[in-house]
Amino acid sequence: MIAVGQRAKAAVFGRVPRALAALALASLGLTPLCACESAKREEPKPASSPRLSSGLDREPLEALPETPPVDHATASLGRKLFHDKRLSSDGSTACASCHDLAKGGDDGLARSVGVGKRKGGINAPSVFNAALNFVQFWDGRAKTLEDQIDGPIAHPSEMNTTWNDVVAKLKRDTEYTKAFAERYPDGVTAANVRYSIAAFERTLLTHDAPFDRWLRGEQGALSPEQKEGYALFKGVGCIACHQGRNVGGNMFQRFGVLGDYFKDRGNVTEADYGRYNVTKDESDRFVFRVPSLRNVEHTAPYFHDGSAQTLPQAVQVMAKYQLGRKLSDTQIAEIVAFLKSLSGKVPELELRGIR
Ligand code: HEC
Ligand code: HEC
Repeated sequence: MIAVGQRAKAAVFGRVPRALAALALASLGLTPLCACESAKREEPKPASSPRLSSGLDREPLEALPETPPVDHATASLGRKLFHDKRLSSDGSTACASCHDLAKGGDDGLARSVGVGKRKGGINAPSVFNAALNFVQFWDGRAKTLEDQIDGPIAHPSEMNTTWNDVVAKLKRDTEYTKAFAERYPDGVTAANVRYSIAAFERTLLTHDAPFDRWLRGEQGALSPEQKEGYALFKGVGCIACHQGRNVGGNMFQRFGVLGDYFKDRGNVTEADYGRYNVTKDESDRFVFRVPSLRNVEHTAPYFHDGSAQTLPQAVQVMAKYQLGRKLSDTQIAEIVAFLKSLSGKVPELELRGIR
């Protein structure tokens, strides 16, 4: 089984302490490769380094950065498009249908349902903090938020449409033609729709989670149980993969490092091949982008296949297949308590209800 783990080579470390990550991975028998992919992508730095309250020099997790400066009018236009069902072939489905911002930014289903009530093949991740992930989608096939949008537009079980149709529909709406003309010299185009929605998505950072407040020095922001949970999260090795400011979202890893998850689950589908579907490299089979754990208490069911209904279940599966160990009920409860401290506030632009 460990041999399988050693082939999970696609570790790409972002802006987190390398030594710690390398140590944690080494304890799993994994070798981190270079930081090539994430290093190439320039990421905005947080306004100030968080003050640490743990007594350590540096924590392997970081508070969320400030929301980057985004043109408010463009983001508001993006918000309107995000909620507009005309972006689907039959007017039934908006981005928000599967990424409900009042419910954690996803749809609460194991697999999403789109146009024609057709079921997709994979679980919908949250759009909250997605801007911070080093690539988009479970298999990382889109590099940017703008590129990502072509996926749902064309997907037969999502919006099932074409850019020609979407642009034609939006052009028939004088409010849209006016709003686009005010911001873009070429008016309503696919590129401008993508740009506006992505601008909105960049505002979807969930600040002020108790854990971030604790990182910034507010001792009482975490309960003793949550602090225990964080110590365990680092101590048992979750931190080797879920790390940095998004508590994940900065590397690819195999699902099933120390156990064969897919054999035990059965019924393997193409969606389970993960990164392999993009690279066709055999060593990428069953490799996924490590998901962010921010707001994870609100995004059940879990995993790309939606197979875990609750957080305790998901944590037990992770312990078994990623770390090769069984955690006690108390340990699981502590880790879950810590994970709940990662829930932040729904962002301002969304709350203001600008349409
Ligand atoms: C029918 C449901 C559905 C609709 C409609 C939909 N999505 Fe998604 N979204 C998904 C699913 C499922 C995934 C994961 C697909 C994958 O990884 O292969 C996803 C992935 C994403 C991601 C990547 C997040 C990450 O962490 O990788 C973003 C961002 C996103 N969607 C934004 C949008 C936007 C913007 C729209 C509208 C243009 C939209 N979605 C429409 C279901 C949907
Ligand atoms: C070797 C890397 C690795 C380690 C170690 C690891 N994880 Fe994960 N984690 C992943 C990957 C990859 C996924 C996505 C699996 C999938 O659905 O395909 C994931 C998914 C999850 C999810 C589900 C998130 C969601 O939105 O569906 C949770 C919760 C989670 N991990 C928590 C933990 C905890 C707690 C630990 C420690 C006990 C841990 N992980 C250890 C790589 C890792």
